[in-house]
Amino acid sequence: TTRVLTGIKPSGTPHIGNYLGAIRPAIAASRAADTESFFFLADLHSLINTQDPLRVQRSTLEIAASWLAAGLDPDKVWFYRQSDIPEITELTWYLTTVASKGLLNRAHAYKAAVDKNREEGVDEDAGVTAGLYMYPVLMAADILVFGANKVPVGRDQIQHIEMARDFGQRFNHVYGKDYFVLPEAVIDEAVATLPGLDGRKMSKSYDNVIPLFAPREELKKLVFSVLTDSRAPGEPKSTEGSALFQMYQAFASAEQTAAFAQAFADGIAWGEAKAQVFERMDAELAPLRERYNALMAEPAKIEALLRQRGQQLREQFAIPLLKQLREAVGLRDLS
Ligand code: TYM
Repeated sequence: TTRVLTGIKPSGTPHIGNYLGAIRPAIAASRAADTESFFFLADLHSLINTQDPLRVQRSTLEIAASWLAAGLDPDKVWFYRQSDIPEITELTWYLTTVASKGLLNRAHAYKAAVDKNREEGVDEDAGVTAGLYMYPVLMAADILVFGANKVPVGRDQIQHIEMARDFGQRFNHVYGKDYFVLPEAVIDEAVATLPGLDGRKMSKSYDNVIPLFAPREELKKLVFSVLTDSRAPGEPKSTEGSALFQMYQAFASAEQTAAFAQAFADGIAWGEAKAQVFERMDAELAPLRERYNALMAEPAKIEALLRQRGQQLREQFAIPLLKQLREAVGLRDLS
């Protein structure tokens, strides 16, 4: 059996990068034969990005509704919230004690924060929390606790999954048994990094996102604001490095994409290209948007579902594993 696992941090409104990089490929993977799937809300991770409790709560509901609207079947897939499974936090500590500090020093998110401080000439650790530093260890616990072997993610997460392999392997080695399966990242090359409105990676931190369930008119406005070069109608356009082209490709079939590339070569006007991108996106997203709005009207249902699944997961997987691990490391068995 293949075990597929992925999570999203509820630290803001879900955007189309989250949908294309994680939600859509993960749901597709969950439908394959002989596959058990684990999709979750990484709410403990979100505390590293935001310390606004209302935002965490709101975003948790929004991301949960997004998964369900996109077609996740909660009877077939394990769908849960990280913080409902305290064993994950306990496992994080055991992994911390085998994780190499040198490896964590090289984690992209931490390094970026330190490099920025250096550039600005302030103390390199100014404003950097131990939470940001430890981020990859918590993420490794998410993956290892359920023995996942495939982790569909966007390109920005590959390093974290390599770290999860490293920590899992070290633990297995130190304690002399294969307690953990070593996971692999699964990357959808077509959308490995979806660009945002300004052409940089679509990200909440760049303020360049298209919200996944923006109402139709807002979606249109946003697509029309995607940055393009200044080539006039009739002049051939380059698909290379075009954010607009990548957005189209992510929502279109191979034939549609080939026709769109031809239109670029033939000098399509940017306004017309944007209209086509908007129509393709809206065709896929409109039915999801409708389901999303219905789900958001019944938050208590989502809450009950998450709690129930979290409890089942603890009983079936997390509690027995942690009992084994406590014995492995030589702690008194408390359960
Ligand atoms: P997060 O919440 O930043 O992003 C969730 C998922 O969306 C993908 N993604 C993108 N993909 C393509 N193009 C983009 N512009 C884009 N922006 C975001 C991310 O690659 C990710 O797959 N650390 C994770 C959450 C996490 C997790 C895990 C993931 C916690 N534990 C265990 C997998 C397994 C994160 O912050 O993702």
